[in-house]
Amino acid sequence: MNLRPFKLERFFAKYEFNTEFLLCSSDCEAMSVADLLAMEPGSAEKFQQIWLGYTESQGHPALRKEIARIYESIQPEEILVHTGAEEAIFLFMLATLKENDHVIVHTPHYQSLSEISKGMGCDVSPWRAREENNWALDLNELRRLMRSTTKAIVINTPHNPTGYLMSRSDFEAVNQFAKENNLLLFCDEVYRESEYDPVMRLPAACDMGGHAVSLGVTSKTYGLAGLRIGWIATKNKKIYQSMAALKDYTTICNSAPSEYLAEVAMRNRQKLVARNVGMIKSNMEIVDDLFARHSSLFEWVRPTAGPIGFPKLLKGDIEDFCDDLVKKAGVLLLPDSLYDLSSNHFRIGLGRKNLPQAVERLEEYLTKLI
Ligand SMILES: Cc1ncc(COP(=O)(O)O)c(C=O)c1O
Repeated sequence: MNLRPFKLERFFAKYEFNTEFLLCSSDCEAMSVADLLAMEPGSAEKFQQIWLGYTESQGHPALRKEIARIYESIQPEEILVHTGAEEAIFLFMLATLKENDHVIVHTPHYQSLSEISKGMGCDVSPWRAREENNWALDLNELRRLMRSTTKAIVINTPHNPTGYLMSRSDFEAVNQFAKENNLLLFCDEVYRESEYDPVMRLPAACDMGGHAVSLGVTSKTYGLAGLRIGWIATKNKKIYQSMAALKDYTTICNSAPSEYLAEVAMRNRQKLVARNVGMIKSNMEIVDDLFARHSSLFEWVRPTAGPIGFPKLLKGDIEDFCDDLVKKAGVLLLPDSLYDLSSNHFRIGLGRKNLPQAVERLEEYLTKLI
């Protein structure tokens, strides 16, 4: 398999741990182990007693039980726990695709959603989100992209990097299309439950039938990236078993302390969601005001879910802008070239506690620039 470097992850490798303000993070603010355990009486004592042997490969039963509660009709045995969402993406592609299969991928996207299948020799067609339509996807285009060799559709909603949340009717139509045409649907739902209005939350794809696999993780909405606990949920036993067998060649099983902490987190996920969506909403007001004050420099389409937005720089080149900003002001924004775009957009992160200070620093920089 020939995998090209993961552009966005290489970018973070360069800046993440030496830059003062990360204003483009896709995860919500994390917390300490002590703060997480304080959410549940008795959990700190239990944490001390965790046995540091190998764990069950498919994930601890108690953790799978908590994760299954996120879904309508999924049983604990239909959850396969992984080391982050990233391992699950890798294993799904490996388990379900082979050379020359055709895959349709919601684009722009987190690179691994297409890179692994490309590396395996699959034919990948981008299904492009339309900027002129607030980043919506066009269902007619999906029909046009379909070939006799199409094996899977890959979507991501709420979406990284645009913050776009698919409409319920479009989501149902994509599921229907996959079912009718015997295609697999891999639905990256790592930002699910971060909708600003919970009424807009879509059903999870895994609850729509055995054609679908839902991807989840503790990193994003729940703000616990350091646990490295992700999962897939699916009623499709064949895919489940193939992925479980491949996991023997990657991580075998997960970290025991992380699984316990994730179990506590999932039991308390409503509190985590309230904390994190609350932070996103108050940060959004600051960002709205910033873009209103600088409306000749930025175009801003407010996201409807998740901790990221995708504004556009109206003057100058976004790569030069981000480069100069991080050098002179220590504020990191992420240019759209990392998503193979050249439309002068950049990713802004809304889920971090120090956003007010980061925006202040950005504005100081802008004032000098003007
Ligand atoms: C859409 C999407 N999927 C998957 C991942 C991977 O998540 P993790 O780093 O928790 O494995 C990310 C991380 O940024 C993401 O944005």
